[in-house]
Parts: sequence; structure tokens; C-alpha cells
Amino acid sequence: MAIPTRTGPTLAEIQAARARIAGVARVTPVYSSETLGRLTGRPVFLKAENLQRTGSFKVRGAVNKLASLSPDEREAGVVAASAGNHGQAVAWAAREVGVSSTIFMPEDAPMAKVDATRSYGAEVVLAGSGYDEAQEAARERVEAGATLVHAFEDEVVIAGQGTLGLELADQLPDVEAVIVPVGGGGLAAGIAIALKEVRPEIQVIGVQAANCAPLVVGGGAGYTIADGIAVKQPGELTQEILRERLDDLVSVSDDEIADGIVLLLERVKLVVEGAGAASVAALLAGKVQGRGSALALLSGGNIDASLLIEVARYSLTQAGRFLVLRTYVQDRPGGLAKLLALIAEERVNVIAVQHQREGLRVKPAQTAVELTLQTRDEQQCLEMLERLREWGYEAERMR
Ligand SMILES: Cc1ncc(COP(=O)(O)O)c(C=O)c1O
Repeated sequence: MAIPTRTGPTLAEIQAARARIAGVARVTPVYSSETLGRLTGRPVFLKAENLQRTGSFKVRGAVNKLASLSPDEREAGVVAASAGNHGQAVAWAAREVGVSSTIFMPEDAPMAKVDATRSYGAEVVLAGSGYDEAQEAARERVEAGATLVHAFEDEVVIAGQGTLGLELADQLPDVEAVIVPVGGGGLAAGIAIALKEVRPEIQVIGVQAANCAPLVVGGGAGYTIADGIAVKQPGELTQEILRERLDDLVSVSDDEIADGIVLLLERVKLVVEGAGAASVAALLAGKVQGRGSALALLSGGNIDASLLIEVARYSLTQAGRFLVLRTYVQDRPGGLAKLLALIAEERVNVIAVQHQREGLRVKPAQTAVELTLQTRDEQQCLEMLERLREWGYEAERMR
């Protein structure tokens, strides 16, 4: 008789995981977003797993796994490799049940994630330049006897992530599509198994970052601001589950992800990391078919404040919310003041002024000034440039 091969956790196992994590992981809220509804032309809901304990959904899988270990496995201590969020979650879940943990993270893992993992009592080892190399480094510790908590290629972890599918089915039984970020594939696999069992009519759409999208034809294998889903080698089991159960798999650019992060921050008041904003990015970029209601999973919120600032500055600049220009004024008292007074009359805020005399073809008795203006949108940028020329100033747009 052939031995049946497992193809992921069953619904019963996901239900058991839900009972196990109850009271430990949070039931996170679902919000509707009028702004996203207007921009996408369909009702949009957001599942805020960025507000989950440890800042991402990962705690679901980690708690389920830690609760399922034998006394010997607990005694040996647990090891995990992680881009950051899984590590935090395993460290937190291990501390809750008194098990020691060692987490391998890439050398460039966000400091917010490294610090949080240490603060939960884990030993953190920085190794390699990405998730895949950190995983390789963890292998030695596992060979020496420690218990591996894999980030995605593990049925118990997948069952834990699948609890999100059951929770969603209760919170929004009539949604048309659920959009889920995909890295190693454990999150989407768990959700897809659960939803296809309890609400098979709900479409499950996976989304990868185009810069690192091994499951999408033509997808790259490089740097993305969505570090949580920057996995070059997804699991074999997870891929099989996703092949059977995902309705579609799309990719989004880093620019689209950045716009998603900023929109969530500015309009929805939620801090969401790149991987977590990929779902919203897919909706905004029109990559999810259909007109019915869609739910974007905000899978995590652990973004370094410094990256958040960079992303916000870049995205706002792209959207015409800053105008940087070079112009020339008379190099005598009042020359600059006259120009600034004209700009003030347009009710445009000047946020930086820099004189430049060297290295440019500045005429005698003139000075070049580089101005950074805070503008409403691209239209206002164009209007300001036009206005400057009407006032008799040369105006060269720098950005
Ligand atoms: C915030 C966030 N979203 C999505 C994912 C993707 O999960 P998976 O690797 O199970 O596909 C991760 C994985 O680390 C993550 O941290």
C-alpha cells in the first residue's frame, strides 16, 4: 500500500491551532478604507496583523509550533532563521513557554527587528546577506541537536498561519478576494487551505515583490524594501499548496510598495512594513481582478523608522509633494527676500534654501539658489515653475 504523502495541514489541524493560540495571539481588527475604496473602485478592507503581538502574523505559527513540541525538543532549545519577523515571533513564543531560542538573521536585518528579538530573550546571530544564507547558517546548530522552527516549510507553522483564514472567514464572510503577501509561502498556504475549505468561493491572491519574486514569471532575486517577503527559495511543500489553491499570483514594484506604505500611514494611520503593504500595493496598481470587495492582509508593521522616513520622502517626491528647483537672484540685500515674498504669496512653503556660487555659470552680481518647496501635487509643481518664469526668474527643476 502506498504511503500517503502530506500536502499540508488539514482543516482540523488549523482549527486545533486556532484553539491553541486563542488568548495568546490577538484577534486583529478589520478596517474598511474609504480612500482605498475610492482609489480602486471597489470596497476595500484591511486586516491589521501589523497590530498583532510582535508586530506580525508570525506569532500564530510560532505559538502553534512551540505548543506542539515534545519535552525533548523543548529541552534542546529552538533555532530559527528569519528575515526578522519569524525570529521575533519564535523568540517571543519560546519565552512564553520557557524554552531557550537562537535566531539567525541576515546581517542587514532591520535594527527594529534585531533589537526586538533580543529583547524577547533570544540569542541573535547575524549571518549572511539574506534570509536564504541565514537559513544555511542555522543548519549547523540544528545538526548539533537544536530543534528547528522553520519559517514556512513546516505543517504545524502553516497551520498556525492558517488560523488567519478562519478568522477572516468569520470577520468578512462575503468578501470576494483576499490578497496575501508571499515570501516562503507559509502564510498564503495556511490561509488558502483554510479558506478553500470553509469559503471556497473567496479568491485568494498571492503577491510578491517584483524585485524578489521567484514564483512569478520574470520575477527578480534582488533587494526589495519588502524584506519580509525577500525569499529567493520558497518551500517545496508551500509551492505545491499554492499551485493548487491560489487563484492568482501577482507582483508589485518597490515604488508601488512605497506608495502603499505612505498611503496607509497618511490616510489609514497604520504603520505597515513593505511586505505588509504589498497587498495594498497590488490593489492600488490594479493587479487584482474583479470589482467586488477585497481584503488586503497587512501582514506586518516592523519597519525601521529610518527606512520609513526614506520611503515617505521618496514616495512624496514622486507624488509631486516636493519641488526642488534652481534659480538665480540678484546678489544684493533683498534679492532673495523678494523671490521668497513672491513664493509666499502663492501660499507655498519653502523648506530649504541653499546659495550656490561656485561651479555654475552664475553671472556677475547674481547668485544661484536651490529651493526646496513643499507642494500639494505635480500640478502645483508645474504651476510654480510657470509662475517663476512669469516673474522673470530662470527656473530649472532639479527633482
Ligand atoms: C510581514 C510579512 N509578510 C509576509 C510574509 C510572508 O510569509 P511567508 O514567508 O510565509 O510567505 C512575511 C514573512 O516573513 C512577513 O514577515
